[in-house]
This record gives sequence, structure tokens and C-alpha cells, in this order.
Amino acid sequence: MSLKSGPLTIGVPRETYAGEKRVATVPEVVEKLIKLGFAVKIESGAGAAANFADEAYAAAGAQVVGSASELYAGSDVVFKVRPPALDEVAALKPGTTLIGFVWPAQNPALMQAMTERRLTALAIDALPRQLSRAQKMDALTSMASISGYRAVIEAANAFGRFFNGQVTAAGKIPPAKVFVAGAGVAGLAAIGTAANLGAIVRANDTRAEVADQVVSLGGEFVKVDYEEEGSGGGGYAKVMSEGFQAAQRAMYAQQAREVDIIVTTALIPGKPAPRLITAEMVQTMRPGSVIVDMAAEQGGNCELTVPGEAVVRHGVTIIGYTDLASRLSKQASTLYATNLLRLTEELCKKKDGSIDVNFDDDAIRGLTVIRDGEVTWPPPPPKLPAAPPAAKPAAAAAAPAKKSGGHGHGGGGEPMSAKTLGILFGVGAALFWLVGAFAPPSFLGHFTVFVLACFVGYMVVWNVTPSLHTPLMSVTNAISSIIAVGALVQVAPPVAEGTDRPDGLILGLAFVALLLTAINMFGGFAVTRRMLAMFRR
Ligand code: NAI
Repeated sequence: MSLKSGPLTIGVPRETYAGEKRVATVPEVVEKLIKLGFAVKIESGAGAAANFADEAYAAAGAQVVGSASELYAGSDVVFKVRPPALDEVAALKPGTTLIGFVWPAQNPALMQAMTERRLTALAIDALPRQLSRAQKMDALTSMASISGYRAVIEAANAFGRFFNGQVTAAGKIPPAKVFVAGAGVAGLAAIGTAANLGAIVRANDTRAEVADQVVSLGGEFVKVDYEEEGSGGGGYAKVMSEGFQAAQRAMYAQQAREVDIIVTTALIPGKPAPRLITAEMVQTMRPGSVIVDMAAEQGGNCELTVPGEAVVRHGVTIIGYTDLASRLSKQASTLYATNLLRLTEELCKKKDGSIDVNFDDDAIRGLTVIRDGEVTWPPPPPKLPAAPPAAKPAAAAAAPAKKSGGHGHGGGGEPMSAKTLGILFGVGAALFWLVGAFAPPSFLGHFTVFVLACFVGYMVVWNVTPSLHTPLMSVTNAISSIIAVGALVQVAPPVAEGTDRPDGLILGLAFVALLLTAINMFGGFAVTRRMLAMFRR
């Protein structure tokens, strides 16, 4: 339990990391933080590189302070983008709550310094991204999609030709060919951007499930000619076998000979970036081609990448910038600030400027790496699985009764014992016999439909990933508006001779029913569309 009662002051310093242009909050978000009950202080010039002036922050209600030391001395909560430098940790008040990127595995000295300072550190990079509730706070995703976009813009800048094919009086220009290695969040953003610019886009990923997403963004998925499952759990990749890697190298070598631009984004959590583009492959590319290596910070996907720089090797420009998101500082700051605002709303449910680091909340638990000076990282795995556990068709077919007895996710508890299951089936069968023997025939027809509907509904819902339950509910809600037919029958003109028109009251009720079901129907489909759009990247 870690509750700090308010009203607390949130401080936002200027980022000190060389070349970092982002800022952890923006004026628009300052107003919302103040509405949540917090006071906000910002270091003078903090937003300058992202085009947010001190005056804009002041107009939004923040207090602009002259120096970082003054800011830290007066702040209970500090929002940052980059992990703090050790001298910044030393300047924080003991007991401060720090929110920002921390990368606890890569920064043991920082973790040590923060525990000694008895801080509470919420690492936005440690957020359990697989929880659907966490999506609004997912700064890794928002930064990766900006970086993917910017990678293509950098490539276009270094490339001496159009992306789209054109037929001009001076001749026919073929479209550029772009190959994207790794179709995660950043890779998908790169695919979408390059396709929108008119290039022919191909992509590859070790996780076969992204193939549809690549196609939906206008790309073509190129498979490695080798059967191996590439998912390492939680939506991330794993290190592949030697055999797969050899087959993948052959395919990448072929692509390198054919394409003009390669964007690489392949990463495996906690491991150095896989080496996918060798020096020989670079040599076979046409002069003037471009490689953007988005994995440069983790060692690079290309052998010749120099992290942080753009270099020319064998006539190919190899871009290894590690600040792609910061190069779109205004956009990146705005999205990042919104991610932190959503996190703050979760921490301050009472809207009274207090914060509660509640460990019963899976999302908060996951990203809290230090609480009151105690290291709380790594966290236990979140309770909900990201994806349905792999089905075991043989076992399921052999024991269908067991499956319906609580096998599905979301069912929660232990599978039932054979004895309990037997008793339940016995009681169920007896009840059905009683209904069949004594109920009137008119009831039996409806009852059969009802039982079948229950069964079909159960089978459908239980096989759907938990994160898709909400869109499923909204679409079934929309479909349930079929009851509109009842109201339509009432308002329709009488069909048979001698049938009376329903009186005004019934017509009125039918009209209200139509209105409500229409809202249900169109609203249900609209909500479903918006929700499913969140899954399409
Ligand atoms: P990442 O930055 O760790 O990796 C980038 C991509 O590289 C991944 O798609 C990975 O499969 C691929 N890769 C790794 N090794 C490779 C190799 N040797 N060859 C080719 N490709 C390779 O991943 P990112 O973008 O941070 O997230 C990965 C996925 O996680 C996303 O695509 C998304 O589906 C999932 N995710 C799910 C969320 C949710 O459930 N709400 C939230 C965020 C991400």
C-alpha cells in the first residue's frame, strides 16, 4: 500500500540527455492534470525543443521555475522522458515518485541510486502491454509508431528517387521497393507510411501471425522457407534456431539484391538485436540504396550500422539514428504526455491530486520497479493471459465433457473433478427429463431454442481472446436489436381485412422501442468498429 495524499505537485524538468528534444508533458495535458487536483511545475525551457513555450505552460496553469534544482525541491512526483542521470536522482527529494522510461534491466546503477534515495519509480517501459486496459498508457507503442514513420521519412530523405511510380513526359519511373524486417509496432508504421508514399512494400517477421496485418497496411508478407513457430510469448519474438536463421539469411540476401530501401526493426526483449543484414548483403545492394536500422541502440540488425549516425558503405546509406521519436518532438511529446496522463488517472482515481500505487492493479504493479525504496522488479506475471492458450485438439476431442467444465480462459478456477462433473451431468439430465415429460408442447419448442442458444453462445464466447470480449459484447448487443422486428410489426399497417390498427398507446410504445433499438443497433456497430480499429495497426 503506497498512498500519498494530495494535493501533490508534479514537476517536469528539461531533458538533459544530449540531443533529446521531447518533453514529458505538454500545455494541453497540464490543464487536465490540474483538473485531477495536482499542481504542476515546469522547468523554464523544458518544452522549447518541442515547440512548447513557457508562456503556453503558464497559460495552462503551470508554474514555470528557473532551474532543475528548484523544480526537484518543490515536486512530489516527477515526469521524465529519458531515464534520469545519477546527478538528477541525487537532486530529487527522498520519497519522490518518478514516472518515465527507466529500462531497469539495462540500468542497474540507476536502480541502485533510486533505491538509496528511497524513491518510487514507475517505469513506463515495464508496463504489461498485453493488458487491453494498458493500451492507453503504452508509451512504447506510441513512440515505436512515431519512429517507424520517421524511419521511412529519413529513408526518403536519403534516397535519390521518388517512392511512387510515375509516368512522365520524360519517361517512366518505377516505384521504389521497400523491405521491412520485423513487423512489430514500428515495422507496421513503416509499412503503412512507405505504402502511402506509393512504394512497393514487402515485410518479414518471425511471428507468422503478423502476416495479415502487413497485408492490411498495403504490404506483402515474405515468408522464410522454414517451418518454425516464432512467438516467444506476450506478443514478442524469440531467438530462432540455426536452421531457420540460415533460411532467413538466404531470403534476406535475395531481398537485398532486389529492393532499394531496407528498414529493420527486429528486436527480441532482453537480447541483442538479431543480425539480419550482413556486410555482403549491403555490398549486393544498388548504389544509392538506403538502410534504416531501427535496432541500432540494441546493437543493430545490420552489421555495418554505426549507432546514432548515418554512414555510407559500398554506396549504401546506412542510418542508425537512435533518436527517431525525438526527431518528431512535438508529436512524440504530445502522445507521451497523454500516455502519462492516462497513467496518472489510474493512480489518482479520486481526482484529488493524490496518488495510490495500488499493487492489486496488474498494470500499476507491472510498471512499479521501485516502491518506497524497495525494488519490486521484475513483477509476477499478470493474471490474464495475452492470448488464448494453444488448443489441444486431441485432448479436447477425447474429453469433451472436461472442456465445457471450465477449461477455457476466463473460467478461472481449477478443472472440475470427474465425480463433480458426473453429478452435475446427472442432475442436468434429470431436469431435462422432467421438463420433457411434464411441460406443455408449446413451451418445449421455445425451450429447445433457448438451450441451443445457450450452448452456441458459450462455445463462441469461450474461444475468444479476453481482450476481444468487449468488442464481441458490443457487436452482440447490436445484433440483439433484431427485436426491432417486433416494433416494426406493430407500426406496420394491418395486413388482413378486418384487423384493427393498434391504438395510439401501442403505436407510441412501438415508436419508442424502434428509437431505442436503433440507437442500440447503430451504436453497437459503431463501438465495435472503433474497438477493432484499435487492434489494427
Ligand atoms: P519489438 O520491438 O520487440 O520487436 C519488433 C519486431 O521484430 C517483432 O514483431 C518481432 O517479432 C520481430 N523480430 C524479432 N526477431 C526477428 C527476426 N529474427 N526476424 C524478423 N523479425 C524479428 O516488438 P514490439 O513492436 O514492441 O511489439 C511486438 C508485438 O507485440 C506487436 O506487434 C504487437 O502485436 C504486440 N503488442 C501487443 C500489445 C497488446 O496486446 N496490447 C501491445 C504492444 C505490443
